[in-house]
This record gives sequence, C-alpha cells and structure tokens, in this order.
Amino acid sequence: MGDSRLMSVLVDEASIGRRIDELSHAIARDYIGISGLIVVGVMKGACMFTTDLVRGLSRAGMSGIRVEFIRASTYGNAVKGSQDRSREISIGELTCDVSRRRVLLVDDIVDQGFTMHALKRHFLEALGASEVRTCAFLQKRLTNPTAEVQALRSSFQVDYYGFEVDDTWVVGYGLDVAEEFRELPYVAAFDPQAQR
Ligand code: IMP
Ligand code: MG
Repeated sequence: MGDSRLMSVLVDEASIGRRIDELSHAIARDYIGISGLIVVGVMKGACMFTTDLVRGLSRAGMSGIRVEFIRASTYGNAVKGSQDRSREISIGELTCDVSRRRVLLVDDIVDQGFTMHALKRHFLEALGASEVRTCAFLQKRLTNPTAEVQALRSSFQVDYYGFEVDDTWVVGYGLDVAEEFRELPYVAAFDPQAQR
C-alpha cells in the first residue's frame, strides 16, 4: 500500500460498491411511497459515502431527493483511545430548512455513538425535522466500551450501516487521521506506531 502506517485493507473498492448497491435498494424499499427526502451528509468524513449513496438511491429508483451537508466535529485532529470521552460535539449550520421534513442522516462511522446520537437529536429537536433515520458507512465493534458507551450503543442504533469493523482506527474512503488518507478508495487499518 506504499505507506507503512497502513496495515491492511479492511474493505476493498469493489466490496464498497456492491454494499452501497445493496444498501440503496434496502433504503429505497423502506422509503417507497415517501417523497421529499432530504439526505444530509456529515462533513467531511461522509462526503464520499454520501455522494455514492445518493447515486445508488437514484439507481434503485428513488427520485426527488435533496442533498445537503452539515459539519460536525468530535475529536479534533487526533486518534483517540477507546477510553477517551468525546461528548463535545460541535454542529455547524445547515443551509436549508428541514422543519417538518424527513431526513436521512449519513455519517462515516459510528464509534462510541455520540456524534450520530447528538446529530439526530439536533435535527429532531432544534431543527424540527419530522423524522430522522440514520445511515453510517461503518460501525465499530467495540472491544472495551465504558458502561456509558455501552448504554448509549444499545439504546441508540443506526437504521442502516455498510460494514462492521474491529475496534481499531480506520482510514480511507473519507475517513482520516489528522486530515490524511481521505482520498483512498478503500478502507484500511491505521497503525499509529509505524513510522512513515
Ligand atoms: P463517535 O461519536 O464516537 O461515534 O465518533 C464518531 C466520529 O468520530 C465519526 O464521525 C468520525 O469522524 C470519527 N471517528 C471515529 N472512529 C474513527 C476512525 O476509526 N477513523 C476515522 N474517524 C473516526
Ligand atoms: Mg465524522
């Protein structure tokens, strides 16, 4: 893979494409008879997934979709340890009115679950969306969650996700470590100890 900090490919490009096709069909089936869906991608991590997903939804027969993006930041620029708390989530402005509208929130990864949970509440409570469903490209299988995280992860589940990954830092297909590796067309495990 060139860079020695990339340990192994966890999800290759072809698998991503196939999974997005499956997901799109499942989502399109669930939204049959519902019009005026607003798909909101969370920047920057979910940019690639969002743009691929909406094209998948179109191929799966959905029409009249509006595509928006919102900014949310959680950890700043570092790789966080699995025991780190990260409930400080700052949510940016949305440039369209979602009140009384159905929203599909799209993020790159559910780790501890705070970001997606906070965003869903924000759309329902502050922005007045009539319904919010959630879709994550990846979901982490946490090995050693705190009691609080465990409670959150079991009380809040995303409606759709692409793949489950082990509890390591992953990069590529939009996911970064300190703004690096977003451009990779696949998902790889990142080794913070390795030298460049
Ligand atoms: P949560 O609030 O703990 O679920 O964290 C979710 C956010 O943290 C995601 O939107 C990502 O931006 C970031 N994140 C968590 N794990 C990873 C990872 O392994 N690679 C890159 N970003 C991650
Ligand atoms: Mg994110």
